[in-house]
Amino acid sequence: MASASESRHGMWSSGWLFILAAAGSAVGLGNIWKFPYIAGENGGGAFVLVYLGCVALVGIPILAGEVLLGRAGRASPINAMRKHVIAASGSPLWVLIGWSGALAGFLILSYYAVIAGWALYYGVKLGEGALVGASIEVANQTFNDFLADPWQLILWQTVFLGGTVWIVARGVIKGLETAIRWFMPLLFLLLVVLLAYAFNSGGFMAGAEFLLSPNWEAMSVDGLLVAMGQAFFTLSLGMGAMMAYGAYVPANASIGNTVITVALLDTVVAIAAGLAIFPIVFANGLEPGQGPGLMFVTIPFAFGQMPFGAVFGVVFFVLVTFAAITSAISLTEPALAYLVEQYNADRSRVAISLGVFCWLLGLGTVFSFNIWSDVHVVAGLSVFEFIDYLTQNVMLPLGGLLIALFVGYVLPKQLAREQLGIDGGIVARLWPLLIGFVAPVGVAVVFVYTIYQSL
Ligand code: TRP
Repeated sequence: MASASESRHGMWSSGWLFILAAAGSAVGLGNIWKFPYIAGENGGGAFVLVYLGCVALVGIPILAGEVLLGRAGRASPINAMRKHVIAASGSPLWVLIGWSGALAGFLILSYYAVIAGWALYYGVKLGEGALVGASIEVANQTFNDFLADPWQLILWQTVFLGGTVWIVARGVIKGLETAIRWFMPLLFLLLVVLLAYAFNSGGFMAGAEFLLSPNWEAMSVDGLLVAMGQAFFTLSLGMGAMMAYGAYVPANASIGNTVITVALLDTVVAIAAGLAIFPIVFANGLEPGQGPGLMFVTIPFAFGQMPFGAVFGVVFFVLVTFAAITSAISLTEPALAYLVEQYNADRSRVAISLGVFCWLLGLGTVFSFNIWSDVHVVAGLSVFEFIDYLTQNVMLPLGGLLIALFVGYVLPKQLAREQLGIDGGIVARLWPLLIGFVAPVGVAVVFVYTIYQSL
């Protein structure tokens, strides 16, 4: 089909650049604060093994499905799905995958930019020497005071979103690719620096043990579902981000090798992040708390107790910021590419308009932490929690499920085989089973269970 042609938005300069771009999307806040914690809590090495199984059986097939839909369509997810539906004479309802994805990306970015803004703020703050030698109470107070001040949150949200818009406005090659070429190698470098620091912190063995030593007793059905959800979220699946990026993949790149490399890089970064964070936490006799508390109270406090803590604290938050921005730019691409195609619009104008809307919506998240902390959208959820729940627990899994079913049952089998470059052999026989059965069942189980749990 169209895979020999080019996308109107530009093309990645090489297969390797696509790998870096997709890894940039995948490696984000989820790797740095979520993976280490849930792995530690759910049986360490046992969880890591189960998680790897989920990545291999559910994550990689759906990732391959998204990329091949994008590359065969050579357009934004909405228009790529339109082409596929026409070619396969499928129901136009499948195009909802594209719409839901574009909307989900926009919704996720609205809060992602606020949280990433906190990392920027902490980078600057620690650079000024704040929290050096401070008590844990002061570290706590610093975070609470920050959250209580909407103007501060808006300032940093604006800086992060402004940077994101500036990059995406410049286009796929000059914007996205340039950012990826700089930020991804720097991200790996900073991670190695932090690992070396953690290795010498005195808590390395305790941290490594918490993260990696297998404890099968702590691994439960719950842990399996958490592993599946994490495998899905961390690979940026279910909203067309990988489909949009897939549209810019050169025709000669191997999708199979590419997606396996992306999944490996993403996992390596997640484990390395854990090996960098926990030793520092344990070296200071702290408990690894969860979520915002770990990233914005425990870690800044721990750095404040350590030699050269201010310097390495800055390194840590710069790392988080790089990870967040290479994810943020992929969140905008499905909606952005669609609007450019549909209205033949100027990319930078669309980028700025999307940015402004996203900024306005993000105010809901900002105010959730202060002046609207008592406002609940539904079921006691604040605006932030509602958007987070809706996207992560509903829109992304449903999107991923539909993508797997579409590729498995509606898209012509020959087209998928061509895109994947498989013609017989073990992979060709396994592929229909993975994309048509294992992956959709896996996602469906997690989806139903999560909804059931929150009723
Ligand atoms: N993968 C990102 C992370 O680990 C988060 C994420 C989920 C995402 N879905 C996405 C990023 C879609 C970009 C696009 O933090």
